[in-house]
Amino acid sequence: MTGWAIIGTGRFADAVMAPAIAAAGGSLVAVCGRDPSKVAAFAHKHCAEEHYTDIVAVLAHPGVDAVYISSPNVLHADHARAAARAGKHVLCDKPLAMTVGDAASIIEECKRAGVVLATNFQGRQFSAYRAARDVLASGALGRLRLIHMSLGLGHRPLAGWRSSAHAAGLGVIFNVAIHGYDAIRFITGREVVSVSGKTLIEEGSALDNLALATFELDCGALVQVTADQLLPFARNDLQICGSQGRITGTNVTRVGLVGDLRVQIDGQADEISQHDTSDCFKRTIDDFHVAIASRCEPAAAGYDGMKSVEIAVAVAQSGASGRMIRLPLQASV
Ligand SMILES: NC(=O)c1ccc[n+]([C@@H]2O[C@H](COP(=O)([O-])OP(=O)(O)OC[C@H]3O[C@@H](n4cnc5c(N)ncnc54)[C@H](OP(=O)(O)O)[C@@H]3O)[C@@H](O)[C@H]2O)c1
Repeated sequence: MTGWAIIGTGRFADAVMAPAIAAAGGSLVAVCGRDPSKVAAFAHKHCAEEHYTDIVAVLAHPGVDAVYISSPNVLHADHARAAARAGKHVLCDKPLAMTVGDAASIIEECKRAGVVLATNFQGRQFSAYRAARDVLASGALGRLRLIHMSLGLGHRPLAGWRSSAHAAGLGVIFNVAIHGYDAIRFITGREVVSVSGKTLIEEGSALDNLALATFELDCGALVQVTADQLLPFARNDLQICGSQGRITGTNVTRVGLVGDLRVQIDGQADEISQHDTSDCFKRTIDDFHVAIASRCEPAAAGYDGMKSVEIAVAVAQSGASGRMIRLPLQASV
């Protein structure tokens, strides 16, 4: 059984990831937060044996094999590198880091320590994404031409550390859109070679609340990803168009939705399937356990975390400069 520690005992770790670790048969050995009474309450609620406010102490615990990092974005890189140096496998929430250089250094540190590094992109466990990926890989859609993806939270202003440039880095881009950028790479198996972005900053906000990104993939296909936490009547849809068909997903791009996927291929009857995202976090932990046991790559590896950070940073850079950005970026960015 894998012994786990959680660093950052906030809302998401409490409501989603600690239960997912338990559901996947992991043992929560220790937790680490910054407030002694809060971290003690978290440990009690989730039956963790130990609780700490000192990351050095939690990483020294011999019963901890793997660490889930759920701290604010600005701390991910230091926490992930420290966990790797302590010989612990690392599941880091998104964004893996706030810069490509930091993401690369986490990958390097994990490689040096011989530990597994995964990024918490639960979308890779969505059945709708997997079904779309399979149709594309089968060639039934013909040549991939165009993808539209939307990810919406409704009007949810950035709050707490998420509203701070220092702690969050970017707004909706790191909070929501980055899941979509990773999903495009996952579904298509292609790399983004150029990025044009536009962002909208709501009055009173320091960071982006709406991000519109256009990519070119290395196969020549064009992609548009829209993410917002600004607009009412959130849309979470996907459309993939090939030379011989089209996949239309409604309510499939975010956790907690029930949606459907319609596959239309020239000369064939339409196929419609229903999808939900249930168990996607448990499946992420299951997949991580398998990666540890068999030393294979997890569904979303460190490299995937780094590539999604690269795209996110390029969207922000393009939005600020008005210029198209070619990838890959320099690792110093
Ligand atoms: N994969 C997903 O879909 C998904 C969804 C939601 C969140 N996330 C990620 O999960 C991570 C945590 O998000 P969350 O919503 O759980 O946030 P949160 O509720 O604010 O929790 C953040 C935790 O980090 C602690 N912390 C340590 N140093 C801090 C500092 N300098 N400033 C503020 N907090 C500090 C907080 O301590 P206190 O308890 O003392 O405040 C809290 O326990 C983020 O990286 C986020 O991107 C991922």
